[in-house]
Amino acid sequence: LSVLQVASEAVPLIKTGGLADVVGALPQAVAPHGIAMTTLLPGYPRVLAAAGKLRTLHKYDDLFGAKARVGAALLEDGLRLLVLDAPELFAREGGPYADAAGHDWPDNWRRFAALGRAAADLATGAGRTKGFDLLHAHDWQAAMAPSFLRYDAAADGMPRPPSVLTIHNIAFQGHYGADVFPALGLPPEAWSIDGVEFHGGISLLKGGLVSCDAITTVSPSYAREIQTAEFGMGLEGVIRARADRVHGILNGIDRRDWHPRHDAALAARFGKQTIARRSANKRAIEKEFALEEGDGPLFVIISRLTWQKGTDVLLECIDHLVGLGGRLAVLGSGDRDLEQGLQAAAARHPGRVGVRIGYDEALSHLLQGGGDAILIPSRFEPCGLTQLYGLAYGCVPIVAATGGLADTVIDANPAALDQGVATGIVFAGLRYDTLAMAITRTVELYRQPARWQQVQRNGMAADFGWSRSGAAYADLYRQLLGEGA
Ligand code: ADP
Ligand code: GLC
Repeated sequence: LSVLQVASEAVPLIKTGGLADVVGALPQAVAPHGIAMTTLLPGYPRVLAAAGKLRTLHKYDDLFGAKARVGAALLEDGLRLLVLDAPELFAREGGPYADAAGHDWPDNWRRFAALGRAAADLATGAGRTKGFDLLHAHDWQAAMAPSFLRYDAAADGMPRPPSVLTIHNIAFQGHYGADVFPALGLPPEAWSIDGVEFHGGISLLKGGLVSCDAITTVSPSYAREIQTAEFGMGLEGVIRARADRVHGILNGIDRRDWHPRHDAALAARFGKQTIARRSANKRAIEKEFALEEGDGPLFVIISRLTWQKGTDVLLECIDHLVGLGGRLAVLGSGDRDLEQGLQAAAARHPGRVGVRIGYDEALSHLLQGGGDAILIPSRFEPCGLTQLYGLAYGCVPIVAATGGLADTVIDANPAALDQGVATGIVFAGLRYDTLAMAITRTVELYRQPARWQQVQRNGMAADFGWSRSGAAYADLYRQLLGEGA
């Protein structure tokens, strides 16, 4: 069974967040179930450089105004890659979505409509491809693919492969003005409540959600939450109308990249029976972040610094954390005022709070391998991966009870401690007092070393690898193919 997945980022080629981890891991996760997955990515300079020599499979003279070709490569780790090489659209300095100053490219609708067009064509067997049994699109950047498949089929009456659309974060929807509609290459009937039209403009995500055969999101809790006004970001009605086609499938973690016994980024590798070795990693963090040694817990943060991640409330709690004898090492980047707030906290608490603004994959592994606790006070979190890495690395997650965080961390309340099942600290409702209390509870638990180590070990023993979720995706694909037959 062959599946084409299409996304705007994938590890190890290009990453801005968890989407890339998931897309990079999915082919290996479904392979044991007899599914051959190929991944289509935009030809950003970094992707083209990493892909090496491409074998051309298909060419466009005019793909949304750009000359383009689709090239194939097989990466060292076995990833089957297709690249949409269209220099006018993707050969730009900056990130995948924004220029170096952080401004979104104004023609993102065109760039990602082109990606969706190419995905739909390849799935159907364009050029020198054989086509695919099913198409799996991720987030708004790929959401035009299901729309094209649906309206192409309606136009010529020929069947198209079924499609799955995964929502990694419903906060990002690909909204543009109505003026863009004629250029999208959709038939007039797509301008409707049952198409890409959304409150007088267009939403690429919404168009995909009403056109695909199954909607998935990355945790069971988030699958429920996005059907409510509080979390649906305006799309709750659209999702609710298709509730029988919505599936919450938890992300796994890629144990090839994230295993404390084999992690080359650590100063000391360790396992459940050798947790004490983590102290060498802690020393390395202290050096890296110019922190004093101390007997209170070392909290870490590895995050986009945004409203979603609750960084604003966290800022208010730093004095409390330090007052209890804690220390804090932050790795992240995002909103300027939050970055500055963190830097001001570091200046206020020299030796106790260290901040690194930027993106550093290796340092993120070291923080998980040497930090005592990782703070993830998100307002919403579709799945979250850093709590899963924390669990695997004995870095106890302190999380808000939302989305995938609620689904993966077991609070160290007295009952769970007695049962020996606790894996972290979970608090409800993000406010100063709830987060401050969670920090207090963490410091108290840390002062009971036997209990603390039990919580660490429970987390390390939890299985958040891909096997269960890989099987769930494979089942879904088969179910959809059965429907079509
Ligand atoms: P999101 O995708 O919403 O940002 P996730 O928890 O799903 O949240 O995934 C974030 C991913 O990005 C994780 O792999 C995390 O380790 C990584 N990450 C986030 N910020 C940084 C950073 N500044 N440096 C290195 N890795 C980071
Ligand atoms: C999004 C979400 C995050 C999730 C990731 C991968 O970035 O914000 O919670 O883990 O996608 O699915």
